[in-house]
Amino acid sequence: MTYRTISVNKISGALGAEVSGIDLAQEPDDNVIGEIRKALVENCVIFFRGQRLTPEQHIAFGRRFGELQIHDFVDGMNRHPEIIEVRKEPDEMRNFGGGWHSDVSYLERPALGSVLYAREVPEYGGDTMFANQYLAYETLSEGLKDMLGEMRAMHSARKSYGVNAVGGQFKRAMNIRYTEEAHAEVDHPVVRTHVESGRKCLYVHGGFTTRFQDMTEEESAPLLHYLYRHAVRPEFTCRFRWEKGSIAFWDNRCVQHNAINDYHGQRRVMHRVTIEGERPV
Ligand code: SIN
Repeated sequence: MTYRTISVNKISGALGAEVSGIDLAQEPDDNVIGEIRKALVENCVIFFRGQRLTPEQHIAFGRRFGELQIHDFVDGMNRHPEIIEVRKEPDEMRNFGGGWHSDVSYLERPALGSVLYAREVPEYGGDTMFANQYLAYETLSEGLKDMLGEMRAMHSARKSYGVNAVGGQFKRAMNIRYTEEAHAEVDHPVVRTHVESGRKCLYVHGGFTTRFQDMTEEESAPLLHYLYRHAVRPEFTCRFRWEKGSIAFWDNRCVQHNAINDYHGQRRVMHRVTIEGERPV
């Protein structure tokens, strides 16, 4: 794939590319935005380095790709409700986004993508990993692909934001609401077709998937756990080392990600906007 306005260099065999030759604060024109979109669809997650964005510029960049979502359970910034500050303080043990997941899949219209901007990073640790869910699907046996292609799975925010959310009480830096509202379930296909690439990918993950539709959690668990493990095999992943001013823009439709929680005693502050997607098909 060739690009006229940006440079795009892959960082692993599975997914991920660094995009250079662009200052996102300079309101990229439609040609550049088109090429960024192409790079995202082709690489599943793209990275920019050395950016200096105000919250307004961050929001404006995200809006070039769609409407921005307001998080249902995490308070946005005071004057910028579209931005959630993903923050872990030195005295905290739990982080936000630790564990493989795809953002807000508990919504009827989950996120197309997320744009995460590094404001303050630890001296070491705090990387983010990404896993390619096209590869996760394509490497299953034909028999399992056929079976999963007919199935739907239930997603819920309960494990992260429900009244019994695991470890909820340990997160203090971010204002998170733990509520019964998070117990609602929504169903999505287990195998979704990406509307831009036309390719099929696996769409279940340990963060928000609860069970297969019309099955109990107990009945669903063995196959779901197999899929969760399979979906993040090392050869399907890449790992991004953050610097202050780095941006990761990932496609939640075909990627899972995992914020590595290995920097206790240090501070990490990121800003995230999340772009509305379509109902998965
Ligand atoms: C998230 O899941 O949005 C957080 C990712 C990160 O902090 O690296």
